[in-house]
Amino acid sequence: PAFLVCKTPTGEGDRVLLLLHEPGAGSNGVRLTMESALTARDRVGVQDFVLLENFTSEAAFIENLRKRFKENLIYTYIGSVLVSVNPYKELEIYSKQNMERYRGVSFYEVSPHLYAIADNSYRSLRMERKDQCILISGESGAGKTEATKKILQYYAVTCPASQQVETVKDRLLQSNPVLEAFGNAKTLRNDNSSRFGKYMDVQFDYRGAPVGGHILNYLLEKSRVVHQNHGERNFHIFYQLLEGGEEDLLRRLGLEKNPQQYHYLVKGHCARVSSINDKNDWKIVRRALSIISFNDNEVEDLLSIVASVLHLGNVQFAADEQGNAQVTTENQIKYLARLLAVEGSVLRDALIHKKIIAKGEELISPLNLEQAAYARDALAKAIYGRTFSWLVNKVNKSLAYKEGEFPGWRSTTVLGLLDIYGFEVFQHNSFEQFCINYCNEKLQQLFIELTLKSEQEEYESEGIAWEPVQYFNNKIICDLVEEKFKGIISILDEECLRPGDATDTTFLEKLEETVKNHPHFLTHKLADQKTRKSLGREEFRLLHYAGEVTYSVAGFLDKNNDLLFRNLKETMCNSENPIINQCFDRTELTDKKRPETAATQFKNSLSKLMEILMSKEPSYIRCMKPNDAKQADRFDEVLIRHQVKYLGLMENLRVRRAGFAYRRKYEVFLQRYKSLCPETWPTWDGRPHDGVAVLVKHLGYKQEEYKMGRTKIFIRFPKTLFATEDALEVRKQSLATKMQATWRGFYRRKKFLHMKHSAIAIQSWWRGTLGRRKAAKKKWAVETIRRFIKGFIYRNHPRCPENEYFLDYIRFSFLMNLKRNLPKNVLDKSWPTPPPSLCEVGSTAPGQMALEQKVIASEIFKGKKDNYPQSVPRLFINTRLGNEEINTKVLQALENEAIKYAVPVIKYDRKGYKARARQLLLTQNAVIIVEDSKIKQRIDYANLTGISVSSLSDNLFVLHVHCEDNKQKGDVVLQSDHVIETLTKTAMRADKVNNVNINQGSIKFTVGQGKEGIIDFISGSELLIAKAKNGHLTVVAPRLNSR
Ligand SMILES: Nc1ncnc2c1ncn2[C@@H]1O[C@H](COP(=O)(O)OP(=O)(O)OP(=O)(O)O)[C@@H](O)[C@H]1O
Ligand SMILES: [Mg+2]
Repeated sequence: PAFLVCKTPTGEGDRVLLLLHEPGAGSNGVRLTMESALTARDRVGVQDFVLLENFTSEAAFIENLRKRFKENLIYTYIGSVLVSVNPYKELEIYSKQNMERYRGVSFYEVSPHLYAIADNSYRSLRMERKDQCILISGESGAGKTEATKKILQYYAVTCPASQQVETVKDRLLQSNPVLEAFGNAKTLRNDNSSRFGKYMDVQFDYRGAPVGGHILNYLLEKSRVVHQNHGERNFHIFYQLLEGGEEDLLRRLGLEKNPQQYHYLVKGHCARVSSINDKNDWKIVRRALSIISFNDNEVEDLLSIVASVLHLGNVQFAADEQGNAQVTTENQIKYLARLLAVEGSVLRDALIHKKIIAKGEELISPLNLEQAAYARDALAKAIYGRTFSWLVNKVNKSLAYKEGEFPGWRSTTVLGLLDIYGFEVFQHNSFEQFCINYCNEKLQQLFIELTLKSEQEEYESEGIAWEPVQYFNNKIICDLVEEKFKGIISILDEECLRPGDATDTTFLEKLEETVKNHPHFLTHKLADQKTRKSLGREEFRLLHYAGEVTYSVAGFLDKNNDLLFRNLKETMCNSENPIINQCFDRTELTDKKRPETAATQFKNSLSKLMEILMSKEPSYIRCMKPNDAKQADRFDEVLIRHQVKYLGLMENLRVRRAGFAYRRKYEVFLQRYKSLCPETWPTWDGRPHDGVAVLVKHLGYKQEEYKMGRTKIFIRFPKTLFATEDALEVRKQSLATKMQATWRGFYRRKKFLHMKHSAIAIQSWWRGTLGRRKAAKKKWAVETIRRFIKGFIYRNHPRCPENEYFLDYIRFSFLMNLKRNLPKNVLDKSWPTPPPSLCEVGSTAPGQMALEQKVIASEIFKGKKDNYPQSVPRLFINTRLGNEEINTKVLQALENEAIKYAVPVIKYDRKGYKARARQLLLTQNAVIIVEDSKIKQRIDYANLTGISVSSLSDNLFVLHVHCEDNKQKGDVVLQSDHVIETLTKTAMRADKVNNVNINQGSIKFTVGQGKEGIIDFISGSELLIAKAKNGHLTVVAPRLNSR
């Protein structure tokens, strides 16, 4: 980040405006423009008193305030403390847009505002997870309550929300109108003056959403219930109820619309105030009650109590002859009995009698008029006071952080808002003002402790050169009020408790006696001549840090005792109104111990409050009122000067100017900003002190901008820190990007590695497969080679497993070779020499013969007879019948004539063409037809004249025999399954190769004695041989596909 320095002449001396600028941040540029517009408006005087040239001058201080006030610029800083001047008019600076403008923006960048303080505390709470508190101080009417409400609204608008959180936000906001109705009243100083102290914790979850809250209330000014000074009113709720309550409701409560009817409302003579709209406020309160989970019954019970106080005020007494008080207003008793749900007669008796228990015995004595009135008022105060505390409890229950509703939302942090009654001075000041002013004294003490004193002490302990600033430490006044034995409260308590006739006067005397030398204490008796005039004899004066206040001791003892007669307490304990019943506990009646006095209770609760505030990181809003007339645009310089003085603003400024805006332990500082310097990021191994030194050097801090203490670094100007914060913001972005990138890289790499492993797995599997395939191929090759070699070695052996492959291969390759270079003719002598394994057919005698026969068969039948092609692949074999299949008688008959070929045939006889099974034998000289053991016919080859076959696919054939031979029976019609083989062999044996006739249509043959037979051949679907009607033998030969 770089600084943009603009010098802006304003007429009241040049003012340097420092704007934070991040290079290259376009949207920021827009923001800056917007804010420049905002700050331009704010260039009146200085926004921060620290920038005031003449910072020691009170006049300059007030002048700056005045200038800004005139321009409606009501907020100004002293460092991180906000000074606010009540404008007494609505300003347009609390809009939603304005809230957004302050959200998440550095303090320093925008004009001073409540929202900046609120946002700053909120951010510290979120970032450091440290409880925060915002202390709002100032006198009555200075705007504390308004500020508190505006801060709450800011959180309600800007904090993250959800359905549940919306409910919590609503309740937090709506608790205000309810508590204000019951606890605020119009005073002379303020039309809506808080008459009780309020400390509210808002609980935030880890996401920064408000999830609950808790309220602590402090000392309600109960006396207001029964008495108001002139020009003041009772608590708002009474007027709101009478003005806004529906007819029906008022009738039930026995009330009339007119406040003038009620004694408790007319003491101040100003029931109606122009600035207050009770009717409207009633509606707001009524709605708020339902939001903070009051049901209709509870509202009715609560309003019954409010009404009962008014009725109590109207209870009147008259003295009887003995001077004892008697109730004269029966009607009121009737209403009271109903509203408080008690026995009417019991209440009446309790109001005019006093019950004392002495030595275990009950003593009842009547009251005189004055005592009865006192008892009545005491009851009204007790009822109202206790109901107010009950109300706070009830609100707390509805605000309580419900873990069940927000499951898993671990630890919460709280932000406290303190809005307590401001310092006040009236014409007549009593016990209440004493308490209120004491409280403000304590808060001032805390402010001093936390800012001035602790600041100076810290510089000292850190060994930082420092010029002490003189300031007024009001501890002396606190001690005067609260010190044990010697303090005013102690003396008051003592007077209240001591037996005998203690009165307010004896108390004053005791005071004079004990603290007479105290510089901040004065009475008529102790004062010098001059001041004595301004002091009554029943008064004492305290010189508060904020100014002198004269208190009248009248009523001090009573108010401190806060006594309620026993019988009234008992009556209330028996009430059936659930709220009253909870407010008055029976144990109170039996408890022997005296209850703590009001002042002591207050003192203790304040000391607890201080503890609470000390444990948190404080922010301050110092409220001031510009005039006493509650008027807009009126700047009463005297009044302002007074406030500037007693609020210690000048001292505050001096300390601020001399001091440092920011300090942090080295460890914490280093931890937060280490990412801004390469040497300290990500870890610094050395001492944190050295790490911070390296870091700030890297950040370019100038010598005058910071100091290194013993354990902490001190940064003088907020702007230095803001620049560092901004740099961190930018760095965070880049770190986040880096982290994202790293993660993405990691994620991608993981994915990549996974893919890589998968690829490797697939590759190795594939390589394995390929390897196995190759190995298998190699193995096959080796085996083939081995077989080949083995085959080669055994090539001359007879066929056996060792040479099978080799021989086949040789044959195959020879034949394949032959196929490619086939000789043109079967008789071509130029054929290649076959390998020895193929020679078996060609070179052996039977093989050669068979081949020769095949060649002859081809010459005879090729292209002439249909079934010739079928015969080609079948080898012609030597004989179809072995000698053992031929009858021995036939063999004997043939004697030495060797049978060359034998085949079973079917003979068709000459007459009826009956089919007879016969054997055909070929010998050296003749064809012999044999029937079992008989030679049926012998045809010498010389007598065989020819052979006839059809051209079709049948197996029939005719052997033509020489007719002159009488022995011959004529031609023979035969059928052989191996017709081509049989005929080829016969023709070759008989040397009748050229005499084979292949006929188409029919064959004629002789049947003996010159008779002729005819065989007709036709082709058909299947073989059929039968005698036809014309006496011919008809042969149907099946058609072959090949034809
Ligand atoms: N910021 C503001 N803008 C407009 N009006 C304001 C502002 N602050 C205060 N006021 C006016 O001043 C009046 C008094 O303010 P407020 O009730 O907050 O005072 P206080 O400090 O709480 O006083 P007390 O100590 O009596 O309770 C308000 O009712 C309102 O009219
Ligand atoms: Mg207030």
